Amino acid sequence: MQTLLAIEKNWDACAANAGGPRTIDLDLLLYDDAMIESPEIIVPHPRMHERRFVLAPAAEIAANVVHPKLRRTIRELLTQLPSPAADEPNLRIFLSPTDIQATILDLHRNGHRIGLVPTMGALHEGHISLVHNAREQADIVAATIFVNPTQFGPHEDFRKYPRTLDADLRALASAGCNLVFIPTANDIYPPGFSTYVEPPVVSQPLEGICRPGHFRGVATIVLKLFQLLPAHIACFGQKDYQQLQVIKRMVADLAVPIEIIACPTVREPDGLAMSSRNRYLSPSERQQALALSRALAQAEQRVRFGEQNAATIVTAMQATLHEAGITQIEYVALADPETLAPQTTVDRPTIALIAARVGTTRLIDNRLLLKAT
Ligand code: PAF
Repeated sequence: MQTLLAIEKNWDACAANAGGPRTIDLDLLLYDDAMIESPEIIVPHPRMHERRFVLAPAAEIAANVVHPKLRRTIRELLTQLPSPAADEPNLRIFLSPTDIQATILDLHRNGHRIGLVPTMGALHEGHISLVHNAREQADIVAATIFVNPTQFGPHEDFRKYPRTLDADLRALASAGCNLVFIPTANDIYPPGFSTYVEPPVVSQPLEGICRPGHFRGVATIVLKLFQLLPAHIACFGQKDYQQLQVIKRMVADLAVPIEIIACPTVREPDGLAMSSRNRYLSPSERQQALALSRALAQAEQRVRFGEQNAATIVTAMQATLHEAGITQIEYVALADPETLAPQTTVDRPTIALIAARVGTTRLIDNRLLLKAT
């Protein structure tokens, strides 16, 4: 306990308001089967089993650890918490892969049409529009929330990726989602897990170069989710354009019986594509980030006025990013919308794609320059 207090002190733990959340708050939740009640410390922590913000991350790393007093695993304690969406009785929360699979198969047998919305949580309007899209084409909508470790590189933001479970559940409930599956990493990748999807060729350029292994992780989790929640349709946003092409190709190549629905990117009123990572941006970075959508809009306008030379368009897009102070450009590319092969002349449908870092935040965006006629 002394060590925890020392760390708190070192990090200058303080609360903005008396009784409000502190900047850092360290507690010992469990220590094997120890039960300690002293003036300095109580173990197990007396309120840990009432708090979703404690149990949800604890379940990610130690779902099967047993609370020595309550004789329940962390997972069971989490399941027993009243749903934050309890006033929305239509949202059913599933933590177990076998339960969700059995439920979806049952819904199939009863003639329901099921729409799936896979997410990593930290939901925003873009995700909610996926739920609305699914709702238009299916009578049952199932979402998943899982921050998939295998799609993050060793130096990427897996640990700090925003986790906002309570708000996510409320948003899903009010968007009309019926079921949500929230597995732990151990449920998806149990000990001995060793089968991965080799992603298609379209995964190789662009993100494939900047984020080696990313699409192997994406393809593997998406296929596994399709197995656990065998839906009729699955909705994905066009903001992650290359991901969408990878998933479409995988589904076609492996004859997965699901229809992939591509949903338009949702933008802030000033044009910034919505992303869970936008919340990392400081106010000045948020301004800089607008250069991505601006560069894409300018490219589209150039093409509309007759420019066909891809190199000229790419140079102008890079200049727009530089003018905004964005120096870490990972790629600016014009490519074939289906294969993502580079395109030198914009005389047929072409997708323009950008990946750049604004501060330390990696952002991507894209725009179709010439639509098929
Ligand atoms: O786009 C995402 O949020 C993720 O890549 C996905 C498709 C949910 C897989 O983890």
